[in-house]
Amino acid sequence: MQKQSVTYLSTLLAVLFCGLMIFAGSALAETVLSVDDCAKCHELQPREIDEAGAAHKDAIDCLECHTGHRPSSPANIPACSVCHSGTTHYELESCMICHNPHQPMRIVLEGDLKAECLTCHTEQNEQLVANPSAHTDVACNFCHADTHGAIPACSVCHDAHSDQMVQDDCATCHEVHQPMVLNYSDSTQNILCAACHEDANDQLMASKTLHHDVTCVTCHTDTHKMVPQCSDCHDLPHAAGIHAKFPECGSCHNTAHDLNNF
Ligand code: HEC
Ligand code: HEC
Ligand code: HEC
Ligand code: HEC
Ligand code: HEC
Ligand code: HEC
Ligand code: HEC
Ligand code: HEC
Ligand code: HEC
Ligand code: HEC
Ligand code: HEC
Ligand code: HEC
Repeated sequence: MQKQSVTYLSTLLAVLFCGLMIFAGSALAETVLSVDDCAKCHELQPREIDEAGAAHKDAIDCLECHTGHRPSSPANIPACSVCHSGTTHYELESCMICHNPHQPMRIVLEGDLKAECLTCHTEQNEQLVANPSAHTDVACNFCHADTHGAIPACSVCHDAHSDQMVQDDCATCHEVHQPMVLNYSDSTQNILCAACHEDANDQLMASKTLHHDVTCVTCHTDTHKMVPQCSDCHDLPHAAGIHAKFPECGSCHNTAHDLNNF
C-alpha cells in the first residue's frame, strides 16, 4: 500500500519535471544563449569560476566547454581530452578525482595516489623502488596529503630518537624517499649518534686522550656501521717488530673510545 503511493508520487513528480524541462527546453532552444545568461539559472558554477577558475576563467568561457544546452544538446559536458592531449598526464583515466573543471587548480588528493603522481614526478619513486623501505609501500599522498605540494614533518608520524634531536636533524641521516640508506655528512654532531650509542659517547667524552676531540663521523665516515682500522689514520707507528708481535693495536691501547695512551 505504502509502496504503491510512493510509486504514484514519483511518477507524478517525473511527469511534472518532464513538463518543466520541455518548457525550459523549448524556451532555451528558441533563444541563443550567451555566457551572461548562465548565471541567471546556475548559481554554483559561475561563482566557482569567478573565485578560482584559473585558465578556465581567463582563456575560455562556459560556452567553449558547454556547447549548446539541453534538451536540444543533451550531451554538453566536454571530455577534457577535447582540449588537453599529448602527455601521459592527459592519458590518466579519471581527471575529475583531482580536478574540478570550474576550479582546475584547486586540486584535491583523495584515495591512494601514486601512478597519477608519476605522470610528472619520477625521481622520488625511483629512489623508493631502488631502496625498499616501509615508505615504499605507502601511497605518495599518505605523506603528501590533501593539498598538492604539501610536505609533512617527520614528527607527524615519528618520534625523534632523543630529546636533543629536532626535525631539522632528521635529514642529516635520512633521505625520506630512501630512509634506510643511512648516509651522513662529516659535520654530524656526536649528540645525534649518542641518541642510540650512549655508551660509546660516554666513554669518548670521559677519555682524557686526544680522541676526545675527534668526532664520531671523523672515524665512522659517510655510511652507518662503517668501522675504521686504526692504521687508516696512524699507519703502523711503532717498530715493525712490535707490530709483528702484537698485531692488534687494542692489546696495548684498548679501544678507540676508551684509549689507553699511556
Ligand atoms: C533558463 C535557465 C537556464 C539557463 C539560462 C541556462 N541553463 Fe543550464 N540548465 C538549466 C536546467 C533547468 C538544467 C537541468 C537541471 C540541472 O541539471 O540543473 C540545466 C543543465 C545544465 C547543464 C547540465 C547538463 C547535463 O546534461 O547534466 C549544463 C552543463 C548547463 N546547464 C550549462 C549551462 C550554461 C553553460 C549556460 C549558459 C550558456 C546555461 N546552462 C544556461 C537551466 C538553464
Ligand atoms: C573547462 C571546461 C568547462 C568550463 C569552462 C565550464 N564548465 Fe561547466 N562543466 C564542465 C564539466 C567537465 C562538467 C561535468 C562535471 C562533473 O561531471 O562533475 C561541468 C558541469 C557543469 C554543470 C552541471 C553540474 C552538475 O552537477 O551536473 C553546469 C550547470 C555547468 N557545468 C555550468 C557551467 C557554467 C555556467 C560555466 C561558466 C560559468 C561553466 N560550466 C564552465 C566543464 C566546464
Ligand atoms: C574547451 C577546451 C578545454 C576543455 C574541454 C578543458 N580545458 Fe583545461 N584548459 C583549457 C585551456 C585553453 C587552458 C589554458 C592553456 C593550457 O594550459 O593548456 C586550460 C588549462 C587547464 C589547467 C591549468 C589551469 C591553469 O590556470 O594553469 C588545468 C588544470 C586544466 N585545464 C584541467 C582541465 C580538466 C581537468 C578538464 C576536463 C574536466 C579540462 N581542463 C577541460 C581548455 C580546456
Ligand atoms: C592525481 C591527481 C590528478 C589527476 C587524476 C589529474 N591531474 Fe591534472 N594535475 C594534477 C596536479 C597535481 C597538477 C599540477 C599542478 C601544478 O602545476 O601545481 C596538474 C596539472 C594539470 C594541468 C596543468 C598543465 C600541466 O600539465 O601541468 C592540466 C591541463 C591537467 N592537469 C589536466 C588533467 C587532465 C586532462 C586529467 C585527466 C586526463 C588530469 N589532469 C588528471 C593532478 C591531477
Ligand atoms: C601535472 C604534473 C603534476 C602532477 C600530476 C603532480 N605534480 Fe607535484 N608538482 C608539479 C609541479 C610543476 C611542481 C612544482 C610547483 C611549484 O614549484 O610550486 C610540483 C611540486 C610538488 C611538490 C613539491 C613542493 C615543494 O615545495 O617543493 C610535491 C611534494 C609534489 N609536487 C607532490 C606531488 C604528489 C604527491 C603528486 C600526486 C598526488 C603530484 N605531486 C602530482 C607537477 C605535478
Ligand atoms: C605520514 C606519515 C609518515 C611521515 C610524514 C614519515 N614517515 Fe617514516 N614511516 C611511516 C610509516 C607508516 C613507517 C612504517 C612503520 C614505522 O616504522 O613506523 C615508516 C618507517 C620509517 C623508517 C623505517 C623504514 C623501514 O623500512 O623500516 C624510517 C627510517 C623513517 N620512517 C624515517 C622517516 C623520516 C626521516 C621522515 C621525515 C623526513 C619520515 N619517516 C616521515 C610514516 C611516515
Ligand atoms: C613517508 C612520507 C613520504 C612519501 C611516502 C613520499 N614522500 Fe615525497 N617527500 C616527503 C618529504 C618529507 C619531503 C621533503 C624532503 C626534504 O625536504 O628533503 C618530500 C619531498 C618531495 C618532493 C619535492 C622534491 C624533493 O624530492 O625533495 C616531491 C616532488 C615528492 N616528495 C614527491 C613524492 C612522490 C611522487 C611520492 C610517491 C611516489 C612521494 N613523494 C612519497 C615525504 C614523502
Ligand atoms: C645521526 C643519524 C640519525 C639521525 C639524525 C636520525 N636518525 Fe633515524 N635512524 C638512524 C639510524 C642509524 C637508524 C637505524 C637503526 C637500525 O638499524 O635499527 C634510524 C632509524 C629510524 C627509524 C626506524 C625505526 C627506528 O626507530 O629504528 C625511524 C622511524 C627514524 N629513524 C626516524 C627519524 C626521525 C624522525 C629523525 C629526526 C627527528 C631521525 N630519524 C634522525 C639514524 C638517524
Ligand atoms: C636510531 C638509532 C641509531 C643512531 C641514531 C645511530 N645508530 Fe649506529 N647503530 C644502531 C644500531 C641499531 C646498530 C646495530 C647494533 C648491533 O648490531 O648490535 C648500530 C651500529 C653501529 C656501529 C657498529 C657497526 C658494527 O659493525 O658493530 C657503528 C660504528 C655505528 N652504529 C655508528 C654510528 C654513528 C657514527 C652514528 C651517528 C652518525 C650512529 N651510529 C647513529 C643505531 C643507531
Ligand atoms: C679517523 C682517524 C683515526 C682513527 C681511525 C684512529 N685514530 Fe687515533 N688519533 C686520531 C687523531 C686525529 C689523533 C690526535 C693526534 C693526531 O693528530 O695524530 C689520534 C690520536 C691517537 C693517539 C694519541 C692519543 C694522545 O692523547 O696522545 C693514540 C694512542 C691513538 N690515536 C691510537 C689509536 C688507535 C689504537 C686506533 C684504533 C683503535 C685509532 N687511534 C684510530 C685519529 C684516528
Ligand atoms: C678515533 C676514532 C673513533 C671515534 C672518534 C669514534 N669511534 Fe666508534 N669506533 C672506532 C673504532 C676503531 C671502532 C672499532 C672497535 C675498536 O677497535 O675500538 C669503533 C667502534 C664503534 C662501535 C661498535 C662497537 C662499540 O664499541 O660499541 C660503535 C657503535 C661506535 N664505534 C660508535 C661511535 C660513536 C657513537 C662515536 C662518537 C660518540 C664514536 N664511535 C667515535 C673509532 C672511533
Ligand atoms: C705493544 C704495545 C703497543 C701496541 C701493540 C701498539 N702500540 Fe701504540 N703505543 C704504545 C706505547 C707504549 C705508546 C706510547 C709511547 C710512544 O710514544 O711510543 C704508543 C703510542 C702510540 C701513538 C701516539 C704516539 C705516536 O707515535 O704518534 C699512536 C698514534 C699509536 N701508539 C698508535 C698505535 C697503532 C695504530 C697501533 C696498531 C697498529 C699501535 N699503536 C700498537 C704501545 C703499543
